[in-house]
Amino acid sequence: MTDELNGDLNSKHIVLGLSGGIACYKAAELARALVKAGATVQVVMTEAAEQFITAVTMQALSGRPVFTSTWDARGVEGIANNMAHINLTRHADAVLVAPASADFMARLLHGRADDLLSLLCLARPIESCPLLVAPAMNREMWAHPATQRNVAQLRSDGTHILGPGSGEQACGEVGDGRMLEPDELLEELIGFFRPKPLAGQRVLITAGPTFEPIDPVRGITNLSSGKMGFAIARAAAEAGAEVTLVAGPVHLATPRGVRRIDVQTALQMFEAVVPQASLHDVFVATAAVADWRPASLSDQKIKKNGSKAAPIFELTENPDILAAVAKQAMHSGRPFCVGFAAESHDLLKHSREKRERKQVPLIVGNLGPATFGRDDNALVLVDAHGHRELPQANKLTLARLLVADIAVRLAAAASSS
Ligand code: C5P
Repeated sequence: MTDELNGDLNSKHIVLGLSGGIACYKAAELARALVKAGATVQVVMTEAAEQFITAVTMQALSGRPVFTSTWDARGVEGIANNMAHINLTRHADAVLVAPASADFMARLLHGRADDLLSLLCLARPIESCPLLVAPAMNREMWAHPATQRNVAQLRSDGTHILGPGSGEQACGEVGDGRMLEPDELLEELIGFFRPKPLAGQRVLITAGPTFEPIDPVRGITNLSSGKMGFAIARAAAEAGAEVTLVAGPVHLATPRGVRRIDVQTALQMFEAVVPQASLHDVFVATAAVADWRPASLSDQKIKKNGSKAAPIFELTENPDILAAVAKQAMHSGRPFCVGFAAESHDLLKHSREKRERKQVPLIVGNLGPATFGRDDNALVLVDAHGHRELPQANKLTLARLLVADIAVRLAAAASSS
């Protein structure tokens, strides 16, 4: 489910600006990723950036000549009026400066125009060509009151600040100020362009399996990669929602901007979800929660014992998280509850029955064995009036369609109340 395969930046024209910093090496990878995701990329570099990476590299990866000087007389898009600083942004969907050095941000802040990149940022049509910057600097430079003041002012001027990340820095120090990784910047940019029908809404999602320990080395679990739930979390965040993702044990990266709570057992998931559910507008239960757990937990590994018969475990039923939240919602009106049904056959029939049984307005049916662990799926949305099929596609595409569908339902409910 890579962004590149989605062609998520098809028909987008991005001006990629590089200012001086060691993170310029990541800009090469970023240019490549943007192109693979369908964008056309026009690179503009400052003189300092050219100390770190060559224009030759950036031209090869973007497939376009690189601009570095205000006095470059080459035409842009067939216009040869010697005004690259104007023409470069007139057809651009965004300017992304990555890396943005502390000095470059200070220049932006003051509306300075002493090199081509800062000049074109100043001259860009502010309404149609947003500015996104990815800071990259030493932690002390980032934490300095001057930089923090500049960041706050840039934000209030409408600039979108991406990151920075935290961790080991080229200078050997550890802290905030690293430029986000190319794949993180790609995810941010794709999300930036998505419509925002869930702006201001809070969404709670469960994902992955649960693991119910028998002893310190064994347990009961379900087949679930968590991919569908994580894709829904990403799609909801892209749609502008504030997203909390309660995840069972899975090995997946947290989508950008999503708050993640890791749990192991069904009881932990219940505790993480139910007390805060009513603070949310939407609850989407994608988790494959184990129906039962061992009635008692052995604190030592249960040993095989020669002639003795295999151990017998007593099981006890786990609480139904979705049903508990749906019950709350019946009284308070929120959150809007969406359940999942993973079936092996008779999908529509079982999905309808599950919707009735769980008392939720929407059930999303899918054929479990056909989708477990895979990057694609097919869904059927079942509500009180009928059903809608979302045909086979990658999980992120399906998640976006589902989120758009939920947003329409929320808007309809809000306008009728
Ligand atoms: O009853 P069943 O497990 O088939 O229902 C599936 C739906 O209920 C899914 O949305 C799942 O996340 C949710 N569920 C739950 N808590 C459980 C069992 C299922 O939230 N204990």
